[in-house]
Amino acid sequence: MNTKRASRTIVCLVLGIFLDALGGARAQATRARQRAPETACAPIAPVQPFNLTEYVDREWYVVAQKPTSYQPRRDLFCVRANYTLVDAQTISIWNTARRDGVSGRDRNARGLFKLRGIVEDVETPSKLVVGLNFLPSFTYGPYWVVATDTTPESDEFAERGYSWAIISGGPLTTPRGDEGLCEPSGGLWLFVRDPLVSKNVVDQIKATARELGIDTSVLLPVDQEGCTYPR
Ligand SMILES: *[C@@H]1O[C@H](CO)[C@@H](O)[C@H](O)[C@H]1NC(C)=O
Ligand SMILES: *[C@@H]1O[C@H](CO)[C@@H](O)[C@H](O)[C@H]1NC(C)=O
Repeated sequence: MNTKRASRTIVCLVLGIFLDALGGARAQATRARQRAPETACAPIAPVQPFNLTEYVDREWYVVAQKPTSYQPRRDLFCVRANYTLVDAQTISIWNTARRDGVSGRDRNARGLFKLRGIVEDVETPSKLVVGLNFLPSFTYGPYWVVATDTTPESDEFAERGYSWAIISGGPLTTPRGDEGLCEPSGGLWLFVRDPLVSKNVVDQIKATARELGIDTSVLLPVDQEGCTYPR
């Protein structure tokens, strides 16, 4: 990636996130104003207990997600998230992807663009806000880990830690379809440790999401077959 292109990419990403943050803040204000008719959406909550150390210990691959302004549809190839614990309440986020295909142009391969995740309450480490390093956290959007395959006290957790997770950009806000399912106003991601996980596992993750009241029809599949990832 040449420098000019890199800086253009960063400007686009920064703008995207900034607009997202603005949109989120506006949506929140609107929601607060029209508190009255509650949506018929199921309440979802960040998982408890949650082990953030294990969660960030290895990379996550996205098998399906809602596109966002900084992860548009054409960039939904080889999407990987690499998190680093900065301190007990802060993580550094390095997302990479490819554009227009699994052999397409690298997105953020050198990690020039990083996001920051903040745990606001140490008692709930599965509930974060995410945004740009240099912006104050009130501009950040919610990032909630709402389901995982194992829980910290279990034998499965001791054996393999977390192997999948469902991440919601805050509570469910928007009813869709007639099954009482809803989508969050922010993003929605299905994470796996193994990028080539079987369709059975993906179906199981989606079924878990629907049990929580999440409309999985808003998810687009992310192609991970044949990917090489930046190191
Ligand atoms: C979190 O999980 C890691 C293993 O990945 C373990 O070493 C650590 O003790 C766990 N932390 C807590 C608070 O249970
Ligand atoms: C993830 O990021 C950390 C720190 O930025 C780095 O040490 C580690 O090698 C990265 N993992 C991969 C798979 O690149």
